[in-house]
Amino acid sequence: MGEYDGKPADAVTVRVWDRPLRLFHWALVLCLAGSWITAEQGMMDWHERFGLTALALVVFRLIWGVVGGEFARFSSFVRGPGAVVTYLRETLAGRHPEYAGHNPLGALAVLALLLLVGVQAGLGLFANDDILYEGPLYHLVGSSLSGTLTGWHHWTFDILLIAVIVHVAAVIVYMVFLRDDLILPMITGVKRMAPQDAPGRIRRTPWWVALAILAVCAAGAYGLTLLA
Ligand code: HEM
Ligand code: HEM
Repeated sequence: MGEYDGKPADAVTVRVWDRPLRLFHWALVLCLAGSWITAEQGMMDWHERFGLTALALVVFRLIWGVVGGEFARFSSFVRGPGAVVTYLRETLAGRHPEYAGHNPLGALAVLALLLLVGVQAGLGLFANDDILYEGPLYHLVGSSLSGTLTGWHHWTFDILLIAVIVHVAAVIVYMVFLRDDLILPMITGVKRMAPQDAPGRIRRTPWWVALAILAVCAAGAYGLTLLA
């Protein structure tokens, strides 16, 4: 028997990424691109909209990480440093262990990216552009501290940009060197896996729960604009 996309012929299809998680991911990519472009163009009204949407998405993801589907849950993929070291050792030795959800190293990247985006957008709330625009929580800190936080908003972005480049580079390394395409599952939600690696029962959370959480997060973000 031959092989299908590098997987055994008897590979099974596993639903790994639920729809809310996939929508979250690609919406976040759009919001970060939008925040970047609008900041460069000085379009602060749109910068605020994209930035606050990114913030709402991150808060949504944190909650979904507790109540969402099996592989969205932090408890299903965040592991200790020992697991990360073992994973790295195995992978470098050519025995790339396959995971249905995030692998132990990827889990660190997930946490780092979420943290960075959250901090970036959080700082933006207090920032100002020295001309016309002030973030919605500017008045809580005043001009001098806002200046400092605006500086941080600039350099956190550089760190975020580096993190995103590393993230995308890692995904490409998996595809090219480990013959493990992670991108298609992030679009379709399904992964093909060897039967012995496939998980058993998978916990699901109904879509309307995601919608309700998202509505609360969006309302919170909108509420912030009213504080300006
Ligand atoms: C994660 C989302 C965000 C990203 C990626 C982002 C990115 C950036 C970048 C790259 C700049 C610098 C532009 C430049 O002068 O070259 C900037 C400036 C700024 N951002 Fe954000 N931002 C985000 C969220 C926010 C939010 C939520 C707010 C406020 C509600 C905000 C308020 C500002 C302000 C006031 C400036 C002007 C700073 C200045 O002119 O020195 N940002 N942002
Ligand atoms: C602004 C840029 C990006 C940010 C902030 C970002 C952030 C994230 C986050 C937070 C996750 C974890 C998903 C979760 O469990 O919630 C993730 C996973 C993932 N991202 Fe991105 N991402 C970005 C761009 C991209 C791009 C351009 C690609 C495609 C080339 C990509 C491909 C993936 C893949 C394949 C995964 C799943 C990794 C796995 O299987 O463990 N990302 N990303």
